[in-house]
Amino acid sequence: MSGSPAPVQGSSEVDPRKSVRERVFVVGAGIMGSGIAAEAALHGYAVTLEDITEEFARAGLERVRQALDGAVRAKAITPADRDAALRNIDLAIGLRRIDAAQIVVEAAPERLELKQSLFREIEASAPGTALLATNTSSLPVTSIASVVQDPGRVVGIHFFNPVLRMRLVEIIPGISTRPEAVAKARTFAERLGKSVVVSRDTPGFVTTRALSVLLNEAAWMLYEGTATKEDIDTAYKLGFNHPMGPLELADLVGLDTALSILDVLWDGFKDPKYRACPILRSLVQAGKLGRKTGEGFYRYPSAEEKPPR
Ligand SMILES: NC(=O)c1ccc[n+]([C@@H]2O[C@H](COP(=O)([O-])OP(=O)(O)OC[C@H]3O[C@@H](n4cnc5c(N)ncnc54)[C@H](O)[C@@H]3O)[C@@H](O)[C@H]2O)c1
Repeated sequence: MSGSPAPVQGSSEVDPRKSVRERVFVVGAGIMGSGIAAEAALHGYAVTLEDITEEFARAGLERVRQALDGAVRAKAITPADRDAALRNIDLAIGLRRIDAAQIVVEAAPERLELKQSLFREIEASAPGTALLATNTSSLPVTSIASVVQDPGRVVGIHFFNPVLRMRLVEIIPGISTRPEAVAKARTFAERLGKSVVVSRDTPGFVTTRALSVLLNEAAWMLYEGTATKEDIDTAYKLGFNHPMGPLELADLVGLDTALSILDVLWDGFKDPKYRACPILRSLVQAGKLGRKTGEGFYRYPSAEEKPPR
């Protein structure tokens, strides 16, 4: 991404280099990056939301708008809060303007080589004092950090989807992460109103490991014809008071992400309980990645459509 085109003007006219507030630079304007940007902007941080193309960055900003509009409709924030948050965000293509950031949160796709290559670039361009965080949900933070010169600055800050509604953040120190980086990550998460749990850097940490088995088991039941997808989801919702069924949730997470995570758990533990259900692999091969592509286990004709009930 070096040598990328000029920065895109988003909703803010502020030159990030002149900002006195802490600036959060979010790498990857997808589902999670846009949610993290929305939450940070809502809590007064100056935010740069970055992606590899202008189209993707603008789509990320649109997702931010939709999330904030949803929070206004739910009366969680006022229209004035939403407007102030939008003014706190600008967009970028590539990492050129990362030199103004105090906190970098990487939310690019869940692929180790991609994240390693990004962290090399991030370390080379971000200020030496900036916290370097990854939102990985399963990859070893230690492996991501292993390619940079100072892995002590790198920490996992694992947000949940949808970021504005989910109260938990899981912090994952890699083997070399310094306590100051963990403390800074905790302060950042708590300023966003999140509760923090700390997990050792083992595959899937606490939450992803637990969730992946649940989603995969539901997919296996569908594969084996145990019940229809609707009945599987209804069973979890009404039987266990889960707010969403596991197949709906897999669609929300993104089936490509869910599959990559299961593969990471399989590689990390070599335990057959993490063997991804073939249905999941087929849907990903077919480009049916869930809500973000309009079809996964369910079909979503429009972005506005509510999950199946
Ligand atoms: N989806 C979830 O529910 C969820 C929850 C917690 C954590 N995570 C983690 O968050 C990360 C992002 O997941 P997501 O669901 O937002 O993915 P996503 O596919 O929605 O978004 C990824 C974004 O990164 C962009 N991107 C790709 N290569 C890039 C690069 N080199 N530089 C900058 N941007 C790049 C893509 O264009 C895309 O906009 C992953 O590590 C995932 O495991 C996801």
